[in-house]
Amino acid sequence: MKTIHLIKPDFLNLKMDSPLVLASGILGLTASSMARVIRFGAGAVTSKSFNLEWRKGHRNPSIIPFEHGLLNAVGLSNPGVDEMVKEIRLFRQKSEAPIFASIFGRTIEEFAEVAKRAAEARPHLIEVNVSCPNVRSEFGTPFGDSPQDTAQITRLVKKAAGDIPVSVKLGPHGPGIGLMARVCEENGADAITAINTAGPGMLIDIRVRKPVLSNKTGGISGPAILPIAVKSVYEVYENVRIPIIATGGVTHWQDAVQMLLAGATLIGVGTAVYYEGMEVFGKINKGIEGYMRENGFSALKELRGLAHE
Ligand SMILES: Cc1cc2nc3c(=O)[nH]c(=O)nc-3n(C[C@H](O)[C@H](O)[C@H](O)COP(=O)(O)O)c2cc1C
Repeated sequence: MKTIHLIKPDFLNLKMDSPLVLASGILGLTASSMARVIRFGAGAVTSKSFNLEWRKGHRNPSIIPFEHGLLNAVGLSNPGVDEMVKEIRLFRQKSEAPIFASIFGRTIEEFAEVAKRAAEARPHLIEVNVSCPNVRSEFGTPFGDSPQDTAQITRLVKKAAGDIPVSVKLGPHGPGIGLMARVCEENGADAITAINTAGPGMLIDIRVRKPVLSNKTGGISGPAILPIAVKSVYEVYENVRIPIIATGGVTHWQDAVQMLLAGATLIGVGTAVYYEGMEVFGKINKGIEGYMRENGFSALKELRGLAHE
């Protein structure tokens, strides 16, 4: 994939050839799969979310494709911080592109502990997953639904991460994504990733007359959630000055341009890789570049937030 000058983003002084980032949870478990994604045109990759210990996740079926996206209740299965630190280090040897380490904890304290361990691998950013619909605090809701929990997690992770920047990944539900983004910014976050999966939702198998997922419910991703994601990014942009990694339903270059106009600096792509293959990165890059040329834009930042004016 050749470097396309027009679409180099300006994100936290990181060197990137494209604003597209592999979203967490898709092909993010091994250095070799992540390095491949870069060769296909992504500007950076995000690892699968990990915590301290190996975690099995939910029984199969845990992912179901449907007409407008995916329903998943993978349950944050991951090999744990030790293995992931090795993969991040290996990725750094293989590729010059930035890697974002996605972390989570079962308790507030675990978030900080994982961040400290993850920082040993020197990722370019630590993304804090407070919004997975499948992992809940003692009150039965994602940590990201509570301004107090999110503030505390952000502060602790920032401290544990040292000089590595931190992005907090928010979901579309909870007490309002604009407010939550402000809480993160006030507590030291360097960026916001919006959004995680929406829902949860359910699909029922009409032959056996039971929910298809073993977990019954799961997070919704893909084209079905694009309008929710665009609106969330728009709202975050109105509330904070830190950059946004806009994620949710981006499949075509037109979706990516919508995210830029809503206020994105980077754009996460997840489910589209499942449907379109890794070629999707090159296609979206080309489409954004064509749109910029046709409309006389010479830098991505000229597009950022234009839908607000
Ligand atoms: C199978 C699957 C696994 C996911 N795992 C994670 C995860 O481990 N951590 C996380 O922050 N988000 C995870 N996500 C959410 C995605 O990173 C992304 O925020 C969401 O799917 C919306 O983007 P998309 O429509 O481009 O997929 C996962 C999504 C899918 C479909």
